[in-house]
Amino acid sequence: MNISEVAKGIYRLSINVENILFEGLWEIPNGVSLNSYIVKGEKTAIIDGVCGWDETPEALFALLDQMDIKVEDIDYLVVNHTEPDHSGWIESFREISSDFEIICSKNAANFLSAFYNHTENVRIVNDGDILDLGNGKQLSFVEIPNLHWPDTMATFDNETGTLMSCDAFGSYGSVSERNYDDLLSEEEISFFLKEAVRYYSNIVAIFSQQVLKALDKCAQLPIKIVAPGHGIVWRKNPNRIIEHYRTLANYQKGPAKKEVTLLFGSMYGMTEAAVEYAKQLLDEKGVTYRAYRLPDTDIGTVLASAWESQGIIVATPTYEFKMFPPVAEAIDELGRKKVANRKAIMFGSYGWSKGAKKELDEMLERYKLNWDLLDFVEFNGSAKAEDLNKIQTAIETLINSLEE
Ligand SMILES: Cc1cc2nc3c(=O)[nH]c(=O)nc-3n(C[C@H](O)[C@H](O)[C@H](O)COP(=O)(O)O)c2cc1C
Ligand SMILES: [Fe+2]
Ligand SMILES: [Fe+2]
Repeated sequence: MNISEVAKGIYRLSINVENILFEGLWEIPNGVSLNSYIVKGEKTAIIDGVCGWDETPEALFALLDQMDIKVEDIDYLVVNHTEPDHSGWIESFREISSDFEIICSKNAANFLSAFYNHTENVRIVNDGDILDLGNGKQLSFVEIPNLHWPDTMATFDNETGTLMSCDAFGSYGSVSERNYDDLLSEEEISFFLKEAVRYYSNIVAIFSQQVLKALDKCAQLPIKIVAPGHGIVWRKNPNRIIEHYRTLANYQKGPAKKEVTLLFGSMYGMTEAAVEYAKQLLDEKGVTYRAYRLPDTDIGTVLASAWESQGIIVATPTYEFKMFPPVAEAIDELGRKKVANRKAIMFGSYGWSKGAKKELDEMLERYKLNWDLLDFVEFNGSAKAEDLNKIQTAIETLINSLEE
């Protein structure tokens, strides 16, 4: 838990959350921060209040206490997005104070009613509307729908150029009190950029085309500071995270980085031996790749890697006429997130009927992933010299297809 000053009249309250599955699903080995912002004019607004995950809102109230702000003194609750990691505390807030107004989009108002049966004191705002807090603090609102829910908006403080962007420009990774790009080393910033890839691919990726629209909209604002709901504040170089998001969004249509993600599974080592051979070839050719064994690797990690990679190698034995189930599960997740337009090859061992390749084809078709499946090698039992030769050819074809 920490409090810091972002810019004149804007304070950040952060709570780190660890040892949970984010959205009940994604592993977060480095934790995640939930960030609220307090904006003070004559009136006081809190933007995206947080209460931790399983915690009670006492954590947030303790932070407010440290700032000498009474819950009753908060005039406005700006709800950029109603996913409960940002809105779950409102009901507790309501038990303490009744004299406040919720500021949110039309969709968010509907969701507040659906999730919490909350319908009173709600003011719906539209794109460009302004909330005047007095003392020169005017907040304006930018609708950025489907980033990643239909309700999402960002809140902009004209005076300091601070964009409080909720999930947009967010990243995983617990934060310290030095949670500003101007206070962190390059190494620490790189850590958050990597955590942003993970966060983006897990949470936002499917909406990449809407992200590009949101970026164009935000580009019209004189942004000096990006203050997201997760991760660090970008104060020295806000464009760094904005452009990072643009790059990540563009990876959906491709081409992504000139890198390869090799995802594989193997029951008894037949496919794995061929994977070792493939890794050796990739090493020899100097290709940047990441190899993940399934089910040992969490899907969020595989997804983050595949999102950044132009090339995908799927290595799986046949299992009951289909792919090895954990590999199918990983491909299914890539399908759901629309990791589209990749160059790919597949190989793997079978015993009697084959079937893995057929299922891969079906999944790519079902999700309309438009992968260029350049080659495949299904071999019986252990890979013999001729199978390895075919795998070599497939890998060379893949490498040659990658663009700079
Ligand atoms: C539970 C199970 C189900 C299998 N189902 C099939 C199948 O439907 N068709 C087939 O050709 N081989 C099937 N096999 C055989 C494997 O594909 C074969 O043993 C392969 O060499 C395993 O490769 P691995 O050592 O990389 O796991 C199955 C094997 C197991 C253990
Ligand atoms: Fe969210
Ligand atoms: Fe969030």
